[in-house]
Amino acid sequence: MDRYQSFARSGFGRFVVGKLGLPDPYPLRRHSPGQPPLTGPVLIGGAGRLAEPVAAAVKSMGLEVAPGHADASPGERYGALVFDASGIDSVERLRELHGFFQPVIRSLVPCGRVVVLGTPPDQAGSQIAQRALEGFTRSVGKELKRGGTAQLVYVAPGGEDAVESTVRFLLSGRSAYVSGQVVRIGPADVPVPEDWNRPLAGKVALVTGASRGIGAAISDVLGRDGAHVVCLDVPAQGDELSAVANRVGGSALQLDITRPDAPARIVEHLGRRHGGVDVVVHNAGITRDRTLGRMDADRWDAVVAVNLASQERVNEALLAADALRDGGRIIGVSSIAGIAGNVGQTNYATTKAGVIGMVDSLSRRVEGRATVNAVAPGFIETRMTAAVPLFIREAGRRMNSMSQGGLPVDVAETIAWFAHPASAGVNGNVVRVCGQSLLGA
Ligand SMILES: NC(=O)c1ccc[n+]([C@@H]2O[C@H](COP(=O)([O-])OP(=O)(O)OC[C@H]3O[C@@H](n4cnc5c(N)ncnc54)[C@H](O)[C@@H]3O)[C@@H](O)[C@H]2O)c1
Repeated sequence: MDRYQSFARSGFGRFVVGKLGLPDPYPLRRHSPGQPPLTGPVLIGGAGRLAEPVAAAVKSMGLEVAPGHADASPGERYGALVFDASGIDSVERLRELHGFFQPVIRSLVPCGRVVVLGTPPDQAGSQIAQRALEGFTRSVGKELKRGGTAQLVYVAPGGEDAVESTVRFLLSGRSAYVSGQVVRIGPADVPVPEDWNRPLAGKVALVTGASRGIGAAISDVLGRDGAHVVCLDVPAQGDELSAVANRVGGSALQLDITRPDAPARIVEHLGRRHGGVDVVVHNAGITRDRTLGRMDADRWDAVVAVNLASQERVNEALLAADALRDGGRIIGVSSIAGIAGNVGQTNYATTKAGVIGMVDSLSRRVEGRATVNAVAPGFIETRMTAAVPLFIREAGRRMNSMSQGGLPVDVAETIAWFAHPASAGVNGNVVRVCGQSLLGA
């Protein structure tokens, strides 16, 4: 908890926050092994083609499916409200959203979940009605208090059997700091994991910038999920890198990814030691902030080299050498700065928007044999954000529906969902991990 959050949770703080209408950062319920994913039953409504596969996924998670509204006991509280809107084929039928959610939205437990399921507008009977679901879901996200989240999932026809990994992610504390997002799932052959707790057993993952911050958290979570993690960082970070690699039972690769021979060395290392790679997470990134008029070319070049150019070269080398195994995952780390833009970050935002371009182009190229997605973190509590001046830092922390910064583990859990073998239908997505930031919404 940050200092303001501790104050806001104290007796006196609650009083002041309530009276003055100040931000009220609710402690988020995050994934904890052995704990149930949600603290209440899941109410499922709507009559499209997705209610049934989603109900099956909810049951397979060990969660209870609540009886419909009409049979609910008085005072019933819900862990999640899930509405299948995929069959809504006219503007008039949008009224069904109101009919389902209005009576129960205030019965959601703290850190509860709202998920709306739809058909991608360009494949739907009514493009207008399906597109309208976005405005509804994002507004619900902003209205939910006490750590609740709301997302829209568009499932393409034929993708009905590919939803479980996404349902598991969204209906749990793994998505604690993800809200107001639109996820797309396409048709895919999805393997049924032997063990949902160790979905990456036998897989090899490369994580760049792994020695600290978000990269260390990604290594921890992928290691927890069973992967052998090859942790990469610059030689100057060697000691911290070894500590992370040892902690996750992986291995360390000291390398500056901007070196001209870096792509070849990565391909060689992965080929020789592991016979290829399954998951590649391009997390290494730097900032060199200045407003454009004061930005020298060195600052521009350094940021482009680390955050974008090296990633493109590594991807091309991996694909050319056929080192990314079938079912492979390439995962980028963008930023809300790449979506909304940010003062002093023309260089950084250029690269982070470029990461989204990389997802768009590469996801189409590898479709059917691999996936390419990215996270776009908002304000995450790391050394990078600790270095931001106090006033800007405090504004960044509070300007989102959760009124708090996220943790590195929130980014890492989202990446683990992309990396999951059962997420084969999740391709070409950019999902923000930003507590539904006001920026670029
Ligand atoms: N912290 C945030 O709020 C935030 C928000 C949005 C996006 N991001 C992105 O998340 C990623 C991780 O950020 P963080 O906050 O953990 O930063 P960090 O500075 O703590 O970690 C970045 C890591 O990348 C490594 N690295 C830098 N240049 C490298 C190179 N040439 N070769 C190999 N490794 C290199 C660094 O040594 C460091 O270990 C970055 O891409 C960043 O842009 C962070």
